[in-house]
Amino acid sequence: MRHFLSYILLGALAAFLVLFSALFAWVRSSQFTITTERVVSEYRSQPVDARRAAFDWPELGAGSYIANCRNCHGADGAGWDQYPGLRESALLASLPGGREYMIDLHLYGLTSDRWRAPMPAFGTMPDVELAAVINYITVTFSEPDSVPEDFRFFTPAEVAERRGRAVSAASVNDLRPATE
Ligand code: HEC
Repeated sequence: MRHFLSYILLGALAAFLVLFSALFAWVRSSQFTITTERVVSEYRSQPVDARRAAFDWPELGAGSYIANCRNCHGADGAGWDQYPGLRESALLASLPGGREYMIDLHLYGLTSDRWRAPMPAFGTMPDVELAAVINYITVTFSEPDSVPEDFRFFTPAEVAERRGRAVSAASVNDLRPATE
């Protein structure tokens, strides 16, 4: 009898955990998808000239960071273990070649001998989301003094221009400007 009861209890606990995680995943993914779809469709419905101008990146970038980047780079962008911190983002983006590096490492991935893991490619993300998440990390995690006053935010058009190249994750590393 005792065994029977404990099986029932265990079963109930397992069912609760499965239901809870399914619910949690659903709430998170649907919130995220709604934000992304709204911004992407608003962006696409604009005339081409307007698309090149400012776009609403902060909310999209923050949501995208949580969904796609936080696991590796950390909630505060400080990195851990084999994953780099993102404090040099603005510095990198303002050095010659740095904007191309920032975009390509997201489109094509990155491998180098500085870190013991690869950065996965995010080329399947829409241009507007990639530009948003790059702007988000640059503004949120960079050393405050390293963001120049006239910093030009990344635009979806700038991301689109770098697509479709035959670029390997290892060759992206050749674009990284020296920061020391
Ligand atoms: C699976 C883990 C992982 C995920 C997910 C990930 N990254 Fe990375 N990222 C890395 C690793 C590892 C490197 C360093 C790769 C190397 O140099 O070999 C890196 C490098 C970078 C760099 C270059 C840092 C430098 O100093 O040169 C930036 C910027 C970056 N990631 C941003 C992002 C953003 C934004 C996202 C989400 C869209 C993201 N990463 C998602 C693991 C990850």
